[in-house]
Amino acid sequence: MKFLQLLTLAFFIALCGPFVEGLGVNWGTIALRPLPPATTVKLLQDNGIKKVKLFDANDTVLNALAGSGIEVMIAVFNNDLPEVGDYDKAKEWVKNNVEKYNVKDKDGVKITCVAVGNEPFLRFYKDQFTSTTFPALKNIQKALGEAGLGDTVKVTIPLNADVYESPYDNPVPSAGYFRADVAPLMTDIVKFLNETSNPFTVNIYPFLSYYTSPNFPLDFAFFDAKANPVVDHDIKYTNVFDANFDTLVSALKKVDCGGLDIIIGEVGWPTDGNVNANVQIAQRFYDGLLAKLTKKEGTPLRPNSTFEVYMFGLYDEDQKSVLPGDFERHWGIFTVDGQPKFPMDLAGTGEPKMPVSATGVEYFPAKWCVVKPDAKDVSKIPDAMKYACDRADCTPLANGSSCGALDETGKASYVFNLYYQNQNQSDKSCDFDGLATVTTKNASQGTCNFTIMFDKVDTADLPHGGDGGSSDSSSKGGSDHKSSGSSPSAVLAFAVAALFGVFGILVLGMDV
Ligand SMILES: *[C@@H]1O[C@H](CO)[C@@H](O)[C@H](O)[C@H]1NC(C)=O
Ligand SMILES: *[C@@H]1O[C@H](CO)[C@@H](O)[C@H](O)[C@H]1NC(C)=O
Ligand SMILES: *[C@@H]1O[C@H](CO)[C@@H](O)[C@H](O)[C@H]1NC(C)=O
Ligand SMILES: *[C@@H]1O[C@H](CO)[C@@H](O)[C@H](O)[C@H]1NC(C)=O
Ligand SMILES: *[C@@H]1O[C@H](CO)[C@@H](O)[C@H](O)[C@H]1NC(C)=O
Ligand SMILES: *[C@@H]1O[C@H](CO)[C@@H](O)[C@H](O)[C@H]1NC(C)=O
Ligand SMILES: *[C@@H]1O[C@H](CO)[C@@H](O)[C@H](O)[C@H]1NC(C)=O
Repeated sequence: MKFLQLLTLAFFIALCGPFVEGLGVNWGTIALRPLPPATTVKLLQDNGIKKVKLFDANDTVLNALAGSGIEVMIAVFNNDLPEVGDYDKAKEWVKNNVEKYNVKDKDGVKITCVAVGNEPFLRFYKDQFTSTTFPALKNIQKALGEAGLGDTVKVTIPLNADVYESPYDNPVPSAGYFRADVAPLMTDIVKFLNETSNPFTVNIYPFLSYYTSPNFPLDFAFFDAKANPVVDHDIKYTNVFDANFDTLVSALKKVDCGGLDIIIGEVGWPTDGNVNANVQIAQRFYDGLLAKLTKKEGTPLRPNSTFEVYMFGLYDEDQKSVLPGDFERHWGIFTVDGQPKFPMDLAGTGEPKMPVSATGVEYFPAKWCVVKPDAKDVSKIPDAMKYACDRADCTPLANGSSCGALDETGKASYVFNLYYQNQNQSDKSCDFDGLATVTTKNASQGTCNFTIMFDKVDTADLPHGGDGGSSDSSSKGGSDHKSSGSSPSAVLAFAVAALFGVFGILVLGMDV
C-alpha cells in the first residue's frame, strides 16, 4: 500500500512537476504585440502554472486553453454588469462564455470561476456599478446552477482592498470593517457568497502601499520581517500583506462570515517605472511571497492555511494607461516577448530558478537604431522623441526607471530604437529627418535594455497553434473593452490613496 502510494506520488510528480499549491497568474493582453495564446498556454505549462485569471472571456484565448487542464477564471466586464442584471441575458452569457467550452470535459476548458466585474466598487468609480453588481452576481450564480454547473464553476467579485478599512483612531487589522459607503451592500454580498459557498476575491498591492504613502516603510512591503511590526493586541504584523488580509478577515467576522474562502485576485511587484521597481526588488517580493505560500503559512488570523493567489501579472503590457504611474506597464514576471526577468521558486522547491521562456519566438536581426554620431540639427530631437513616444512605451526613461540615468542623446537613441523595432526594423523608420542611423553594435547601456523586436512566433507544433502567429493581435474588438472595464489597475491611481489610507494610518501608528 505504502509502496503504491509512493509510486503514485512519484508518477504524479514526474507528470506534473512540483508546484506551489494554489498559485496562479493574471493573463492580461494590453500589449502592442501580445504573444499568440497557444504560445502562452505552453509557457504556463512549461512553468507548472495551473491556474490563470483572465480579464475577459476571449474565445481565441479560451480555445487555446482547451484540453490543457489549466484552471481558468473568466470575467464579466464592468460595463456588461447592467445587462447581466437581466436574467435572460445572464443565461445567455453563461451559455456563450461557459457552457460552450464543455467545462467538465477533459478536452474542454476547465473554467472554475466567473469573476463578475473587476473592482467595481473602487472609490474612483463612485456609484457607477453599485446598483448593478450584486444583481449580476446573483444572476450568473443562478444561471450556472440552472446549467448544472453550480458545483463546478464558482462566482466571485474581484474587489479592490479599498472596500474595507480600519478606523482612523484604531488603525489595526482587528478593527477592520467595510468602507462606510458600501458597508450595507458588502454585507449582503458577503452573506450571499457565504450562503452559496462562493469565494471572496481581493487584490492586494504592497507596492502601492509604498507608492502612495510617503511615510510607508518600504521594508514593511516585504515578507522578510525587516520592518518594525504593527502591534494589534497580541499579534505582531511584520508585513502589509498579512495586515491587509487580516483587516478583511476581521470585517468578514463582523458579519458572521469569518470562514469565507478568500482568493487573492492580484498581487505582485513591478520591475520598472519607479526607483523601487526593478528586478532585484521584485525578486525580493516574490521570494517572500512564494516561500510563504509554499510553507502554507497563512496569516495571523488564518494560520497554516493555503490560499489561491494570482500573481499580477504574466507579461508586461506596453499599451496600458500610465495614469496610475510609469510602473503600470511593467508588472509582468515575463517581458512582452515571454522572457523571464528573474529567478522565481514557482515550483516551491526552495530553490528559485529562472522561469522557462516562451518557445518559438524568432527575433529580428541584432540591429539597433540610434542617434547619428554626427547628427546636425539636434534641436529637432525633442520633437522626434515626442513623435516616437506617442507610439511606443517610453516609461523606462523616467527618473528612477531603468533608462533614467542616460544622457539626452542616450535617451533619444532609446526612443528611436523603440520606434524602429516596433516598425519591424523597416529602414525608413530609422531616419528621423537624418538624426538617426542603424548600428549592429549593441546599444544597451547599463540597466537600460535596448531590445530587439520579435519577428514571428512559431506555433506550428502547439495544440491550437494553427491560428497562431502574431497576425491579428491588434484587432479592434478587444481594446475598447479593455480600456473600459478590464484594465485592472488603470484607475488605481485614484483608489490607492483610499486603499492605503488604511496602512498610511497603520504606518502613522508605527514607531518608524
Ligand atoms: C456563513 O457560513 C457559515 C458556515 O456555513 C455559517 O456558520 C454562518 O452562520 C454563515 N453566516 C451567515 C451570516 O449566514
Ligand atoms: C500552525 O503550524 C505550526 C507549525 O506546524 C504549529 O506550531 C501551530 O500550532 C499551528 N497553528 C494552528 C493554529 O494550527
Ligand atoms: C530627476 O533626478 C535628478 C537627479 O537625481 C534630479 O536632479 C531631478 O530633479 C529629477 N527630476 C525630476 C523631474 O524628478
Ligand atoms: C510588424 O509585423 C507584425 C507581424 O507580422 C505585423 O502585425 C505588424 O503590423 C507590423 N508592423 C508594422 C508597423 O509594419
Ligand atoms: C545587448 O546587451 C544587453 C546588455 O548586456 C544584453 O542583455 C542583450 O541580450 C544584448 N542583446 C543582443 C541582441 O545581443
Ligand atoms: C536587461 O537585460 C538583462 C539580461 O539581458 C537583465 O539582467 C536586466 O534585468 C534587464 N534590465 C531590465 C531593466 O529589464
Ligand atoms: C482575443 O484574443 C486574440 C488573440 O490574442 C486577439 O487577436 C483578439 O483581438 C481578441 N479578441 C477580443 C474581442 O478581444
